[in-house]
Amino acid sequence: MKKLVVANWKMNPQTSEEARSLFIATEHRMHMVSENTEVIICPPFVFLPMLTHYAHYARLGAQNVSEHEYGAYTGEVSGNQLKASSVTHVILGHSERRIYFGETDIDVKNKIDMALKHRLIPIICLGGEKNATVNKMKPLVTKQFNSAIKGLQKYQIGKLIFVYEPVWAISSMKHSHAETGEHAAELITHIRNLLAKHVDRGHAQHMPVLYGGTVHQGNVSDFAKHPEISGALVGFASLESSGFFEIIKEFSRESVHKL
Ligand code: PGA
Repeated sequence: MKKLVVANWKMNPQTSEEARSLFIATEHRMHMVSENTEVIICPPFVFLPMLTHYAHYARLGAQNVSEHEYGAYTGEVSGNQLKASSVTHVILGHSERRIYFGETDIDVKNKIDMALKHRLIPIICLGGEKNATVNKMKPLVTKQFNSAIKGLQKYQIGKLIFVYEPVWAISSMKHSHAETGEHAAELITHIRNLLAKHVDRGHAQHMPVLYGGTVHQGNVSDFAKHPEISGALVGFASLESSGFFEIIKEFSRESVHKL
């Protein structure tokens, strides 16, 4: 199965020139691994139109979409506008959106519906909520999952990409601490079992379910070695192209082993 690595640049870098250099440097090496690993890069909105010209191996994702179609919604970006910038994917339900911007399960759900309406593939993060603890992860992930898929048809659920994103293991969160590969694999299996109730079990086995806590060169093998983990959503470490490539390479290597 192909692995998938998603770069979430968050609100970085600060200039178009830096964004262009980072994107080109990341793309540059990707032809070596693109047969068994897909890469999606999610920069800030403002850089998307420029970066479409440089995207040959990587696809472009956004970090948010408005739940509204168009109109008087100051500061929002619509699904149509993303499509016009060649965006194929959109990250939704990220813990930073949930915690810093107060996005609720209902907001996330409305955005998922809007993304699907515009044929954008939602990359849905599960596990981000203030005060979430290790013990409460399964019920929290289940609650957020059920809200995300509510009312969707089987073929729509089959297109979703889920991410297990334990809030305590994100670099941006105060007092963050590490997640183990074993526990991440367990939660990812849990998400796949939830999926199997809504799509064919065989299909659920092949749907990408990623790990979204901090991944870097030093810990990537802990996660990549678990076949249940289809790839990673990488924040901070995606801002430096050679380190990011090491992460892609590690998943790519595991994917070749498992073929
Ligand atoms: P990080 O972010 O890699 O910087 O910890 C991960 C994420 O935001 O999902």
